[in-house]
This record gives sequence, structure tokens and C-alpha cells, in this order.
Amino acid sequence: MNNELLILGAGGHAKVVIEAARACGLEPVAVHDDDENLIGRKILGVPVKGRIVDLPDNLNCVAFIAIGNTKIRKSIATRLKRVSWPVLVHPSAYVSPSARVGNGSIVCAGAVIQAEADIGTQVIINTGANIDHDCIIEDFVHVCPGCNLAGAARVGEGAMLGTGTSVIPLKHIGAWATIGAGAAVVNDIPAGATAVGVPARVRR
Ligand SMILES: CC(C)(COP(=O)(O)OP(=O)(O)OC[C@H]1O[C@@H](n2cnc3c(N)ncnc32)[C@H](O)[C@@H]1OP(=O)(O)O)[C@@H](O)C(=O)NCCC(=O)NCCS
Repeated sequence: MNNELLILGAGGHAKVVIEAARACGLEPVAVHDDDENLIGRKILGVPVKGRIVDLPDNLNCVAFIAIGNTKIRKSIATRLKRVSWPVLVHPSAYVSPSARVGNGSIVCAGAVIQAEADIGTQVIINTGANIDHDCIIEDFVHVCPGCNLAGAARVGEGAMLGTGTSVIPLKHIGAWATIGAGAAVVNDIPAGATAVGVPARVRR
């Protein structure tokens, strides 16, 4: 196993992930991104060395995926099967000792994950988001900054909850759904739907 740490993705979220890694005492050696124009640049001092698509399927190293798009995160993690994907928790986040957080998931600064919440693999719990007790957050979900999920809410695989979304207890957001920034989810949202507003309504 090569213990060098790579960051996959060179957008704004990469800065957040690099600083979270540094706060945990980890120093990335390189960033990779599919935008060729970024190769040769530096993100917070870390060089962008190549494209993600050019990384070999059998790549054996440690990496974090710093890309908000849930489908892209799934495709990268599914292809690079031999990479070690640790959990990254910013030191200012709180994760209950009875919560579970799956491989590759990133808990950003100021986020809170309460008792017996279950966070899948390659999930982003972004800055200042609150995941209350017994929530189930499935693989590849992105909970954007400032979201509030009340107790036992459930979010299906690959869903994206825009900045500042609130979800009342026990509601279920289906797989690959998109919730608009600032929405209040007070009813279940079907898989694949886009819902916006207060209360959140599915956009036709
Ligand atoms: C919901 C969302 C995905 C829709 O994106 P889109 O399909 O490109 O939508 P558009 O910007 O074309 O807007 C379409 C309509 O929806 C409305 N709309 C867009 N986002 C909305 C929101 N969050 N709440 C209410 N209405 C919204 C627009 O005003 C527009 O209305 P109109 O047709 O009456 O003018 C997007 O606006 C959003 O909220 N994304 C969240 C992004 C985010 O939080 N990112 C954080 C990254 S860390």
C-alpha cells in the first residue's frame, strides 16, 4: 500500500478537504482533476498533477474525493476499488460515539452527527450541517452546508440536499433526489425528484 494521500477534485470543495486533512495532521501530496487547464496549478499549495480519468483502475493509495456531485463521486469510488478511503472528520465537528460513519465520508468543520445516526460511504456532511439522532444517510449523499436533519430522517443513495435544507423528523428523501437550497422537507420526496421551497414541493 502506498500511503501517499491524494485529493480527487480541484474545485472549491478541495480547499475545504485539504484544510480538514491538515487539521487532522495529514498532508496531501497531489490533487487530480479532469480539467486539464488546472494541471500544473496549486490548490492551497498542493500541486494538481493529472487527470482523475488517467489514474489506473488498480491504483493503490489513500485518497479523499473532494467533489460535491454525487454521481461523479460514485463513479470514481466504484472504479478505483483498491484505493483506501479513510473517514475524514474535521476536529471541530462532533460525531456521537454511537454514530457510524462509512469509508470515504467527510464530516466538515462544525458539523454535528448525533446518537445512532448511520452515515454511509462517500457521504459529505458539509460545513455546519446537523444530522440528528437515528438519521440514516445512504452512500454518496451530499448534505450541503447548514442543513438541519431532525431525528430519524432518511436520505437515499446519492441525494443532494442544497444549502440550508431542513428536514422534519422521520421524513424520507428518495435516492438521487435533489433538494433546493433553503427548502423545508415536511413530506417524503420520491426518488430522483427535484423539490424546492417551503414547504418543499416536487418541481414538475
Ligand atoms: C434546486 C436547484 C438544484 C435547481 O437548479 P436549476 O435546475 O439549475 O434551476 P434554475 O436555477 O434554472 O431555476 C429554475 C426555477 O427554480 C427556482 N429555484 C431554483 N432554486 C430554487 C430554490 N432553492 N428554492 C426555490 N426556488 C428555486 C428558480 O428561481 C427558477 O424559478 P423560475 O422558473 O420561476 O424563474 C438549485 O437552484 C439549488 O438550489 N441548488 C442547491 C445548490 C447548493 O446548495 N449547493 C451547495 C454546494 S456546497
